[in-house]
Amino acid sequence: MITFGKTKIMNPFLIKGYKNPQYFCNRIEESSNLIAAIRNNQDITLHGYRRLGKSALINHVFRKLEKEFVCIYTDIWGTSNIEDFTRELANGIIKSKVFSKQKFSAKMATFLKSIGASFSIGVDGLPSIDLIYTDRKHVFSNLEEIYNFLNQINKPIVLAIDEFQEIKKYDNQSPFEGKLRSLSQQSHNIVFIYSGSEHHLLNEIFTKYNMPFYQSTRMVSIDKIDKKAYFDFILKHFRKANIDVSHEIIEYILSISHLHTYYVQAIANFLYGLETPPKSIKEFELLYRDFIFEKSVFYSELPELITKQQFSVLKAIAKSGTVSNPNSAEFQQASKIKGPSSMHRAINSLLDKQLILKDNDVIRLYDVFLEHYLKYI
Ligand SMILES: Nc1ncnc2c1ncn2[C@@H]1O[C@H](COP(=O)(O)OP(=O)(O)OP(=O)(O)O)[C@@H](O)[C@H]1O
Ligand SMILES: [Mg+2]
Repeated sequence: MITFGKTKIMNPFLIKGYKNPQYFCNRIEESSNLIAAIRNNQDITLHGYRRLGKSALINHVFRKLEKEFVCIYTDIWGTSNIEDFTRELANGIIKSKVFSKQKFSAKMATFLKSIGASFSIGVDGLPSIDLIYTDRKHVFSNLEEIYNFLNQINKPIVLAIDEFQEIKKYDNQSPFEGKLRSLSQQSHNIVFIYSGSEHHLLNEIFTKYNMPFYQSTRMVSIDKIDKKAYFDFILKHFRKANIDVSHEIIEYILSISHLHTYYVQAIANFLYGLETPPKSIKEFELLYRDFIFEKSVFYSELPELITKQQFSVLKAIAKSGTVSNPNSAEFQQASKIKGPSSMHRAINSLLDKQLILKDNDVIRLYDVFLEHYLKYI
């Protein structure tokens, strides 16, 4: 909380999670597309690069659908096998509103028992699953139990599995994908949202003709939030708190962040938290520099993790912000790389390492703060 005069106002620029529609900017069209697909029983693959707002969008849509559907959200980031996957799915279910309001219903106890889960009760009074006992030979049976359970619920269900690309990293991943696909096909009561960011992995799951999930879902990609809408959203929240920030500074933030949602949020959050708001871009820059240098611990080892050439290219991209033609004489000179083939190699490995990304027609750094750090050092 920050105190402005006598009123205490929460910083409205969230830098993690989702709270409510008030703090959520735009995405009107995306939300209504997703809602229409869900109401028509169409499974969805939601993809877009990292930190654009996929998870927040799912939660926003869930907020709008919670009267019609039981909404279950599962994040499988960091899971490395089918047991982990099953545990996270079960956790998503017990945290949803699938069970009656009582914190620990008999129905829930039966469910936990049927999947052989050991659980503990968290501070919120809700159980959380620690372990699911699985006989290695029947590794799929708990998963089947879970799908059976969901199919018996007398309200339609939306089940979001976030970071779905993680299943590509499991061992014996191929039979698992097939099993999941067949369980999903049999689940007439459930609409699935598969969401994730690692493009090539998701592509492999959903667009390779010999893979189980081939063309089984609608592919929905999310892009940046409309600039005008974001401008109005930021201005509205500063006005509400009686903080005087010029249009010019807001425009500047939207420009240096490339409209990449997380970074817009984080910079606006930083600006909102300042005791005295800057009066000019110059003043803003001075304060922002310190904010970026605070992050140097994350970045200082980078030169050791990539080759000299790659670092040199990365830094040159950072200095110019965006690059449309890496083979131009000017950029080759700035990055000290000679010849298109060396440049091609360096660019490709930086893309591979997700240090840079193709943003429409230009190349830029994936991590906007790293871009600014490299620009300042
Ligand atoms: N429409 C929005 N309005 C305001 N803030 C948003 C919006 N969408 C996302 N955010 C905020 O931006 C940040 C990144 O969003 P989110 O975590 O949903 O992105 P993501 O695409 O799921 O990222 P990742 O790929 O890392 O999982 C979060 O702090 C979230 O609160
Ligand atoms: Mg996410």
